Amino acid sequence: PTVYILNGPNLNLLGQRQPEIYGSTTLADIEAECRALAGTLGVELGFYQSNHEGTIIDQIHEARTKAQAIIINPAAYTHTSVAIMDALNTFDGPVIEVHISNVHKRESFRHHSYVSLRADAVMAGFGTHGYALALRHAARLIT
Ligand code: DQA
Repeated sequence: PTVYILNGPNLNLLGQRQPEIYGSTTLADIEAECRALAGTLGVELGFYQSNHEGTIIDQIHEARTKAQAIIINPAAYTHTSVAIMDALNTFDGPVIEVHISNVHKRESFRHHSYVSLRADAVMAGFGTHGYALALRHAARLIT
């Protein structure tokens, strides 16, 4: 079984970007942690990041035939993108939404998530470790 982990805009700058909110761990560090964990859990991993909404939608479409679960941090598109929600609604398997920060503790515009209308589970405020926690849960659901 395969899990796709999809990351939205500005997450390529993790480690440099507002470290007081997002910490010092880079996206490459997260990918390495998730790849090591995936090996022990017996799942294959596709790990992607894009700053472009349409590219993220294309990756969700690809997951329809290549993955059994999606973990997605849509970043700012969480709060704006009906198109990403619609794409996730074409995917049959479990969808887990991840936010590094606790979005509910932040500005009110971050309190609403279009993706949560589709997500089966949501992680927020676990820092970058939230990805590994989500991956454990995804593996339980599909293996
Ligand atoms: C985020 C929270 C979003 O509100 C923000 O736009 C991000 C990152 C998080 O991981 O905490 O870019 O998704």
